[in-house]
Amino acid sequence: MIVWTVANQKGGVGKTTTAVMLAAWAVSRGERVLLVDFDPHGSLSAYFGVDPEELSVSAYTLFQAAANGSTLPPEVVRPTGTTGLSLLPASIALATLDRQLSSREGMGLVLARALADPLRSYDRVLIDCPPMLGVLMINALAAADYLIVPVQTEPLALHGLERMVRTLQLVNRTRRPPLSCVIVPTLYDRRTRASRETLGILQSKTPISASALQQGLPGRVWEGMIPVDTQLREVGRSGGLLNQMIRPSPGALAYRELFEMIERERHLPAPAPSLRKTEETGVGRWTP
Ligand SMILES: Nc1ncnc2c1ncn2[C@@H]1O[C@H](COP(=O)(O)OP(=O)(O)OP(=O)(O)O)[C@@H](O)[C@H]1O
Ligand SMILES: [Mg+2]
Repeated sequence: MIVWTVANQKGGVGKTTTAVMLAAWAVSRGERVLLVDFDPHGSLSAYFGVDPEELSVSAYTLFQAAANGSTLPPEVVRPTGTTGLSLLPASIALATLDRQLSSREGMGLVLARALADPLRSYDRVLIDCPPMLGVLMINALAAADYLIVPVQTEPLALHGLERMVRTLQLVNRTRRPPLSCVIVPTLYDRRTRASRETLGILQSKTPISASALQQGLPGRVWEGMIPVDTQLREVGRSGGLLNQMIRPSPGALAYRELFEMIERERHLPAPAPSLRKTEETGVGRWTP
């Protein structure tokens, strides 16, 4: 099993779309895939016609079961209508987790433990995070083998990225080997100057000062990008049907490129020889 987490502390940057599209490409290769909706708003669940306000079992049940020491009911994972693709849906109760449980011991590892045992029968797990740091994102990062950070190609999005990079640096202080990440420029509109300039900054074609990007990013920026694609926007309304998701539109094809790039990288030897410590952060900087 391989676990990819999609996270960014900024909202509306394409996290849910990224999780869905990467899952769609994985399923199209014959993999058994679990999509985990960790956002109390449940936009990922909504892709599959699941209303997070109406669920009696959901990702929240995972935390209840861990807190009570009870067994996880198997129906917590639902079929999606697409062969090979299952969903662990969100519920609005997830929004109360930080208040209720974050101070309890072991609550940061609930998802990692569930994936190690009752939910272990998948080839790949994709976790969609809420746009905030809390017990859900901590769980998603702890369970992850790889982190995908979508960043909208507009200037304000760079601030969100700095926050996310700091979070990852914090996580990596105690993690060996460090969690690798890829930053994925999204919603790219080549007709706008703001989009072109932000892509240039992200991919370091433009010098910037005092940015987290220069302070030792624990990962790398993808040299591709996901363009604005109205078909991707429509996918949300298609009821999560695989053939709708991977119609050969520019956005869907860009997600296939991203999927293949991460897969290629995964099969490369460990990046240890080129991992160097940066003075300021002590976090490894991967220079591919
Ligand atoms: N490449 C794209 N082209 C066009 N529309 C897109 C693209 N990517 C995402 N969208 C649309 O932009 C909106 C935000 O995307 P998405 O829901 O994936 O972001 P998010 O980061 O998950 O947001 P939130 O933080 O609210 O969960 C959605 O309406 C989605 O359909
Ligand atoms: Mg989302």
